[in-house]
Amino acid sequence: MVACVDLFCGVGGLSYGLSLAGVEVVAGVDLDENCRWPYERNVGARFLHADVDSLDAGVLSGLFGRREPRLLAGCAPCQPFSTYGKTRRRPDERWRLLDAFSKAVRASGPEFVTMENVPGLGRHEIFRKFVGTLRSEGYSVEWDVLQCERYGIPQRRRRLVLVASRVGGARLPEPTHAEPVDVADAIGHLPPVEAGAPSRKGADPLHVAAGLSPLNKERIRHSRQGGTWRDWPERLVAECHRKEKGGTYPSVYGRMRWDEPAPTITTQCYGFGNGRFGHPEQDRAITLREAAILQSFPEWWEFVPSGGKVEFGPVGRMIGNAVPPRLGEVVGRVIVELAEGRTFPAADPPGPRDPAFRTPIS
Ligand SMILES: C[S@@+](CC[C@H](N)C(=O)[O-])C[C@H]1O[C@@H](n2cnc3c(N)ncnc32)[C@H](O)[C@@H]1O
Repeated sequence: MVACVDLFCGVGGLSYGLSLAGVEVVAGVDLDENCRWPYERNVGARFLHADVDSLDAGVLSGLFGRREPRLLAGCAPCQPFSTYGKTRRRPDERWRLLDAFSKAVRASGPEFVTMENVPGLGRHEIFRKFVGTLRSEGYSVEWDVLQCERYGIPQRRRRLVLVASRVGGARLPEPTHAEPVDVADAIGHLPPVEAGAPSRKGADPLHVAAGLSPLNKERIRHSRQGGTWRDWPERLVAECHRKEKGGTYPSVYGRMRWDEPAPTITTQCYGFGNGRFGHPEQDRAITLREAAILQSFPEWWEFVPSGGKVEFGPVGRMIGNAVPPRLGEVVGRVIVELAEGRTFPAADPPGPRDPAFRTPIS
């Protein structure tokens, strides 16, 4: 069975998806302690609260133990590569986290590597260097920008996905869906809720929608599915939009369409003014549960302990930052197939990496 350590594991979207494909996820590493409870609860693997940048090679080796073959997965924070970061002149500190991932690969020498990030990363020198390092370490490498809706994820989301294999034959998952899954299929069955209403006793605590100001209540009443603020009466249009000629962000304050996949679910997706995050029919933004389902998390996924406080900011961040589990699953299937095409050495004797047990990654 392929054993995986997931660096920058977050709440565990990627880990969970890999596990669905038959990968044994042994541990996730992340700097955000808030991710521990949902990660351990839902993925059932160990959560290590640590900075990947200073992760000790011995610790990494210890997480894998004697299991083989090994998969190192990593989804470094993507903000520096997103289009919102375009105007930054100074390279963001977090760019170096891809180097940290590269060092972890060299230190642990896994048979397989996978990473996911924003499409823009592919244009950067730091990514070319990363791919070059993998090739010089003997990996075959494939990467491309994948469209999530082609894999049954009810969302238009483009993501750079890389698969590297030391046993050769690296490839990306083939699309699984000719027709996308739409918003109606994904969340149409959920009970109606009102903007700002507290969760009812016994109901799903995540199926709550953020409150709306009186102005935004009026705006959403005038919004149509797939429309924009251009559909509203002039008096409701924000000053900044009135001045706009070309319309820089026409999709903010929009409603989703029932018959299409959702737009990209972001960390702010619970806010009506933050994108096309209005419910197709009800006068509110999508709930946290709807956002999670549109990211392909199963409906039972728990983000906070029973009775715990559900806060839009932290939970929205966990959901929006996650790799859709379904994407993790199709990538996991490729890796399991590659692994099954080869006989791996018995798992028992200590691997040659063990002498490096206490060596820091350098
Ligand atoms: C894009 S999210 C990963 C999402 C995750 N793969 C999933 O599927 O749910 C990036 C994660 O990197 C974590 N992170 C940022 N800097 C880190 C560091 N230096 N060491 C470890 N984790 C870090 C963040 O806390 C965040 O959870």
